Amino acid sequence: MKKSKITIVTGTPATGKTTVASAIAMRTHALYIDVNAIIKKEKLWVNYDKKRKAKIIDTKKLNNILIRIIKEARKKEISLVIDSHLSHYLPKKCVDCCIVTKTSLKKLKNRLKKRVYEEAKIRENMDCEIFDVCLTEAEEAGHKVIVIET
Ligand SMILES: Nc1ncnc2c1ncn2[C@@H]1O[C@H](COP(=O)(O)OP(=O)(O)O)[C@@H](O)[C@H]1O
Ligand SMILES: [Mg+2]
Repeated sequence: MKKSKITIVTGTPATGKTTVASAIAMRTHALYIDVNAIIKKEKLWVNYDKKRKAKIIDTKKLNNILIRIIKEARKKEISLVIDSHLSHYLPKKCVDCCIVTKTSLKKLKNRLKKRVYEEAKIRENMDCEIFDVCLTEAEEAGHKVIVIET
């Protein structure tokens, strides 16, 4: 068995990725990787979509950085829990387990409203959950997927 286990946690914003990823990292003594912090630190956006009020992330660059972190962790036999709705874009060979967080549409709407997102942003994230975008993409990428309902 591999000594270093790489877990990714993906899902629509506000479905509970950070909550689940931190809990798993703490309980399994793995290192929690905050991808949002990496994106900010490394300025990994290629553009800003004014209409969607969202940064377009350079997922290729992000993947390269995450792959480097994973290789280093494997060498040191450290386990990682990677928290990001972009984490499932990692190649399946780098990942041992892919968790997709999901929640009911009612709960999701309440959580998104609490984040004081604009109506269009709430709609976009609701659609993402309705169409199971992260789950479908993760399965299509060939990851071993576990769904956690929050
Ligand atoms: N299992 C859960 N049960 C109840 N509330 C949860 C659960 N997981 C997350 N939440 C709540 O949902 C909100 C969003 O969770 P968060 O982990 O920040 O989501 P994400 O990282 O996917 O955006 C938080 O207010 C959190 O307390
Ligand atoms: Mg989060």
